[in-house]
Amino acid sequence: MKITIVGTGYVGLVSAVGLAELGHRVFCVDTDPQKIEILKSGRATFYEPGLDKLLKKNLANRRLSFTVSLAQVIDQSEIIFICVGTPPQPDGSADLTYVKQVAASIQTLSKQGKIVVTKSTVPIGTGAMLEQILNKKPGRVFEAVSCPEFLREGQAVYDFFHPDRIVVGADKQSVGFKVINLFSAVKTHKMVTSRETAELIKYAANAFLATKISFINEISNVCEKTGADVEEVAKGMGLDKRINPYFLKAGIGYGGSCFPKDVRALRQLSGGNGYNFRLLKAVIEVNNKQRQLFFEKIKKVLGSLEGKKIGVLGLAFKGNTDDVRESAAVDLIKKLVKAKAKVSCFDPQAVANARLVLNGRIRYCANAYETMEQADALIIATEWPQFAKLDFKKVKKLLRQPIIFDGKNLLNHQLIKKAGFSYYSVGRS
Ligand code: UDX
Repeated sequence: MKITIVGTGYVGLVSAVGLAELGHRVFCVDTDPQKIEILKSGRATFYEPGLDKLLKKNLANRRLSFTVSLAQVIDQSEIIFICVGTPPQPDGSADLTYVKQVAASIQTLSKQGKIVVTKSTVPIGTGAMLEQILNKKPGRVFEAVSCPEFLREGQAVYDFFHPDRIVVGADKQSVGFKVINLFSAVKTHKMVTSRETAELIKYAANAFLATKISFINEISNVCEKTGADVEEVAKGMGLDKRINPYFLKAGIGYGGSCFPKDVRALRQLSGGNGYNFRLLKAVIEVNNKQRQLFFEKIKKVLGSLEGKKIGVLGLAFKGNTDDVRESAAVDLIKKLVKAKAKVSCFDPQAVANARLVLNGRIRYCANAYETMEQADALIIATEWPQFAKLDFKKVKKLLRQPIIFDGKNLLNHQLIKKAGFSYYSVGRS
């Protein structure tokens, strides 16, 4: 099948490369000429394990190409994917400006009717609204379809080929099956449903996962008051098949490009439809509070932070990504800088992106050990697996005092305490 993908951000590029790898001919369009040049040279514009390799392979076998001109490629494809951003507006609702612009361009440029699929996370009713824009003029019939994306950053390539499910929402079943057949080589649960249902599945899934995280973070706070261990509690809960062990890791709260945005958007769109989604208000409050509680824990141990030298490991919102959007690590560094601490930090991938959002005198180090030289404390703020494998004898020698704050419960607390550290994590004493 010939496919056009508009928007080469996270969702667009991974989907494009994945669909090309499945054997389709994929034309990618983006308005940013610089990005297109980089992609044409076979390099991804963000860090994602395994993506560069598949990008190069599918450029070489000519199943994948990049252009800034939608006009040039639109009539060569039967299906168009809209993968542009839907950034949050000040009230939390999703801004559909870019999605609407793409629909208007398709309407103007396309000679024939086509299937137009939204992969961007969009509010319920967007498909119907897009169909109106697309079918403004009679003579051609466009079908708007929803195919929400469930990729996790850092594992997106794996997730593309091994998804838990593929959901397609369409008004006509025959159209829905045409889109689902693009993924016929992928063995998983496939579900064709109404457009509104598909749109809501994406929000509901992300909001539920965020709720699980806020729930376990609340439990971690009860653990701290009662002497229970949140890791053990999560293990005990997760062994119940009805609960499962995933997304029960306590820490300094969720971040990233999806959870914070989608939880706020679902709350906003529920409110807009006359329903007060009370639970999500609490999920958001708990997430914000969790970051603050960790900062207060640091202050309680170290006293005034003014002039204190603090090493921070991690800037990305989670491990295996260079993405710092809504990162709890970045948030924490902002708080430390505001309290006049001297921050030295390291992240294996996210330094360039962090520099764009962090101000103040922050030292960016070339490796993890540099951050802790003569530091008053070390903070782990992102769950990069390599931070758990540091040489902790060396860490102890480098620190001025052996204090570690672990915001991701990454280290084995018994071993690290045995090694002579004062160790503070989340929900474990
Ligand atoms: C998420 C969804 O998982 C994915 O299906 C959707 O398509 C996009 O949003 P992503 O944002 O890449 O994916 O990250 P995810 O792995 O879900 O983690 C989100 C945040 O929650 C991170 O900050 C992570 O550190 C945090 N988290 C995750 C926890 O604090 N505890 C957990 O148990 C799991």
